[in-house]
Amino acid sequence: MGKNIAKTTHTFFFCDGGSCQKAGGEQVIRAARAYLRNNDYWNNTHTIKTRCNGRCEDAPTCIVHPGEFWYKELTPKKITHIVKGHINNDCPLETELLYKEGWKQQISNKEIAPIKPKPFEFKADEELGDCLITRGFSSDQYLYPLFLFMLEKQEGVTLHVPNKTHLAFKEIKEVNYSKEYTLELLTKTDCLEFTIAAVPKDDKELQQLKISITEYFYQKETTQTGIRFKNKFGETLGKIEFDSINTEAWKYCTKIQLQNLNLDLTQL
Ligand code: FES
Repeated sequence: MGKNIAKTTHTFFFCDGGSCQKAGGEQVIRAARAYLRNNDYWNNTHTIKTRCNGRCEDAPTCIVHPGEFWYKELTPKKITHIVKGHINNDCPLETELLYKEGWKQQISNKEIAPIKPKPFEFKADEELGDCLITRGFSSDQYLYPLFLFMLEKQEGVTLHVPNKTHLAFKEIKEVNYSKEYTLELLTKTDCLEFTIAAVPKDDKELQQLKISITEYFYQKETTQTGIRFKNKFGETLGKIEFDSINTEAWKYCTKIQLQNLNLDLTQL
């Protein structure tokens, strides 16, 4: 039988993402659960493993509710004190906090500046000719939203898949991301696939299909903008082109995908 959630006094969210696992997160979770079990708090508390909390530099991390308490660089010893403190007197262990509600900023010992796309640069590209080009992000956390947005704002958007097809995005009726690695673009009669999730390093076939490079470009000759997708070996897997620099979808790319990066056409 499951727990009676209505009786929960505290919930501990333990990050179980890759960085936290590497930093000993599993031992931290085990220590917390053992403390709760042996001190008869098990039925009134809840422990939940989460995916990455977005603070890998502070791994292993944990969030405590009620309140908004974020803990950093945990060890089995620290978590036992933290759990005790919250359960007994709702008293956070301030020295181990990354953030709590009311603080103007987080306190990390290992802050890493967020990665931003580099400015557009001039390139004489084999396929695109003279162009301004930059790299965006290629994880599925960026690519799935990108394709969903294209589905919403299809005007002036064209998709090219080498040796396969060339179609107006308007023909795409659905974007489906329910498979393990693959995104499906469904037209009335066809299904185009792009591999966007992280794939096993030793699977050469999947590595060849995986989008690992996402380039945003402006072509001098045609004045067209677009996105080119490549695998890690530099082979083109697909291309999206926009009718003009004013297409809604291109504006979205520079604002959201490239984090407000502007084209400087004087470079051409
Ligand atoms: S893996 Fe735990 S914060 Fe990223």
